[in-house]
Amino acid sequence: MAHVTLKKRPNSAAEDQWDPLAAKKHQSNKDVDDPAAALANSRHEFGEHGGVNMSIEASATFTVMEPETLQRMFAGELGPDRDFYIYSRHFNPTVLNLSRLMAALEGTEAAYCTASGMSAIVSVLLQICSSGDHLVAAQTVYGGTHALLTHFLPRTCNITTSFVDIRDYEMVERAIVEGKTKVLYFETISNPTLTVANVPELCRIAHDKGVMVVVDNTFSPMLVSPARLGADVVVHSITKYISGGADINAGAICGPAKLVNSLMDLHQGALMIMGPTMNPKVAFELSERLPHLGLRMKEHCHRALIFAKRMKKLGLKVIYPGLDDHPDHKLLKSITNTGYGYGGMLCLDMGTEEKAYKLMSLLQNYSQFGLMAVSLGYYETLMSCSGSSTSSEMNEEERELAGISPGLVRMSVGYVGTLEQKWAQFEKALSRLVEGSI
Ligand SMILES: Cc1ncc(COP(=O)(O)O)c(C=O)c1O
Repeated sequence: MAHVTLKKRPNSAAEDQWDPLAAKKHQSNKDVDDPAAALANSRHEFGEHGGVNMSIEASATFTVMEPETLQRMFAGELGPDRDFYIYSRHFNPTVLNLSRLMAALEGTEAAYCTASGMSAIVSVLLQICSSGDHLVAAQTVYGGTHALLTHFLPRTCNITTSFVDIRDYEMVERAIVEGKTKVLYFETISNPTLTVANVPELCRIAHDKGVMVVVDNTFSPMLVSPARLGADVVVHSITKYISGGADINAGAICGPAKLVNSLMDLHQGALMIMGPTMNPKVAFELSERLPHLGLRMKEHCHRALIFAKRMKKLGLKVIYPGLDDHPDHKLLKSITNTGYGYGGMLCLDMGTEEKAYKLMSLLQNYSQFGLMAVSLGYYETLMSCSGSSTSSEMNEEERELAGISPGLVRMSVGYVGTLEQKWAQFEKALSRLVEGSI
């Protein structure tokens, strides 16, 4: 054999024959409710020379010694479960290692990582749905996802979507067409309105009708574990909190091993055929960041809650599900994993787009509170006016239905500097805004 056998940590749960995709089976993750504990239980991959970090398998292709080995690999008899790799658009050991961590994080049997969040979403929906199928989706989802469901999938694949208010369970139930609807799709905490999904109840409704539940957990890694609450598939834009550096585009599909394996099928697999492949060097970088995701999330959440409370005290219209008077506060409290908080995203409704941009400009250029930029999960605070940026794919009526007002400023609260230093910067910009409007 030409492949290298990596050193495994002694006493690792993976000493027995391991199935690379079925992380849960061998790591007892099904009994581990806290994602931090599940991550710590994951197999630790050491470097080829005993390094505490794994080696990067940068090869696009892999050698074999015997011709029949290659034939058996293409016939599906030998695969990554036995350390046989064909080609890195299929499985790659370094990407697979990050994928195992993602499966542990989300408590799913398996996972695989992709080049972006959008490619994860498109790929899994195309794997589950065929031409003529139907989805039911939350009317408040990320603008790119909304465009995919509204325009791209109907035009290219004849896959249609009915949008619903996921807080209206009867509406969700009515929208499901038995036999035709294949997926119920929503975000745990929605972009940008921060509506919280009742994951257990929505899963019950969908599963009663034989519909799979796909949840985008981009806004709430660690805080909420949708698969532990019943969801079949969890997708991520790793680009955001999981990366934390605003320097990488990446995504993941976490779900049953059978589904993840099917994504790699040589004839029918969406990932294998469309090829939104994650670079192994990127996978390595990201697997170095997952161990401190929990710590980062706690600080994002801690600061967001304090800022939200203080902003509210100043009379601003704040939307933050950690506030007692947020309509979804109790629900979020009931589904969060203990000790992380209520999310690092908050919204300020400034009434008009003009006022929203004025505030953001002062916060960036006058008081250095944060940066005017889309995306989220960065260590600096990022601010954007959703209606004219990340939700601009939606028309005015769709934005109104989704509750996205023109003056909505979405903030991804960062953790650099001290909390009081940052708060003083916020107050300084706000005073200037008020002075300017007098
Ligand atoms: C909730 C959510 N899902 C998916 C995406 C798409 O992810 P990516 O930009 O990594 O393709 C985004 C991007 O903003 C998002 O906010």
